[in-house]
Amino acid sequence: MWSCITDFFTYETTKSVVVKSWTIGIINRVVQLLIITYFVGWVFLYEKAYQIRDTAIESSVMTKVKGFGVYNNRVMDVADYVTPTQGASVFCIITKMITTENQFQGYCPESETKYNCTHDSDCTKFLNKPGSNGIPTGRCVHFNSSLMMCEIQGWCPAEIDTITTSPMMEVENFTIFIKNSIRFPTFNYTKGNFLPTITDSYIKKCNFDLVNNTYCPIFRVGDVVRYAQQNFNILANKGGVIGIKIGWICDLDKSDDECNPSYSFTRLDAMSQKNAVSPGYNFRFAKYYKTENGTDYRTLVKAYAIRFDVLVNGNAGKFNMIPTLINMVAAFTSVGVGTVLCDIILLNFLKGAEQYKAKKFEEVSDSPLHSAGDGLYRSQLSLRHDETIMKSSDSGAFSIEQYS
Ligand SMILES: *[C@@H]1O[C@H](CO)[C@@H](O)[C@H](O)[C@H]1NC(C)=O
Repeated sequence: MWSCITDFFTYETTKSVVVKSWTIGIINRVVQLLIITYFVGWVFLYEKAYQIRDTAIESSVMTKVKGFGVYNNRVMDVADYVTPTQGASVFCIITKMITTENQFQGYCPESETKYNCTHDSDCTKFLNKPGSNGIPTGRCVHFNSSLMMCEIQGWCPAEIDTITTSPMMEVENFTIFIKNSIRFPTFNYTKGNFLPTITDSYIKKCNFDLVNNTYCPIFRVGDVVRYAQQNFNILANKGGVIGIKIGWICDLDKSDDECNPSYSFTRLDAMSQKNAVSPGYNFRFAKYYKTENGTDYRTLVKAYAIRFDVLVNGNAGKFNMIPTLINMVAAFTSVGVGTVLCDIILLNFLKGAEQYKAKKFEEVSDSPLHSAGDGLYRSQLSLRHDETIMKSSDSGAFSIEQYS
């Protein structure tokens, strides 16, 4: 018990041992050089650790699509093919539509082959489950003169969505206009994607491309799809989701002209591409009308669309004293890590390791100091001046000189 306490009340002091060895000397300096290079090159210059960073970018996106297409012998304009119409950062351009006109509430046969039947008993298994187009009634009725189908209650006639139609190919030439304003709240810095260098006349005729017009805010749909490495025909037929990413990486220590957006494009629903169960992107909506005597009827539209999601991300950095100091302290401390590595090598792998260990770990007990009276103070002093110099000859053996 007592020995535990005396073991605890001890003090370790650092005693420097100078080792004059080419091997360990070179290792020591190389390790220090590597650590300094890492901090200066990577941490300070590349990662800009002297800056504080604002990643909470605030952004607003407005979009506008332009172009005319022809579909089912009708000229389609923006109000027909863009949904929702508000011009938000997420919008759909409808490329293909399956319309079912004049649907009234009532009873009618289903339209899918899995509802084929010959007797009412074939249809009872669908009771109390949702059908494809309405609530099954359990009866088997004539679909046409030769075919019978289970009956449903709902909007009739039921939609037949297996017919093949071709998409509106003009969509490829439609243009998307994107207006994006951003703000970095930490620095109260605002900017928009219309750079000061962009003139009115340039915007009227420019089209974005990745080489010459990297800041033009008008994008041709065909180009966006191509940059996302997709085939326009397949996408227009099945529908899909394309991401237009706007990145703002700004170094606010530099001039304002160097804080610019960078655009990139990707397909976001990559999973539905591989998956055969639910390929592409489609949705349904209806337009409602009233007959003269007040009954509602509707036109149901199943729309295949390319959805565009405009995603804005970014961060800005600016010089600040606190991270600079913290990282400088970390850098200076880390230079000492080299000592640990050199010690490991010296204590284990070099010739003369035993001698070095003996010099490095010397026990000083305090009992002789008691008898010496003022010995404690002297002892500490002498430890500080007690430099051991180890020299290694080229043969690898050490010579140890000790000065007191
Ligand atoms: C798109 O426009 C180009 C020229 O402006 C034209 O040659 C091409 O036929 C158009 N594509 C479609 C699908 O209308």
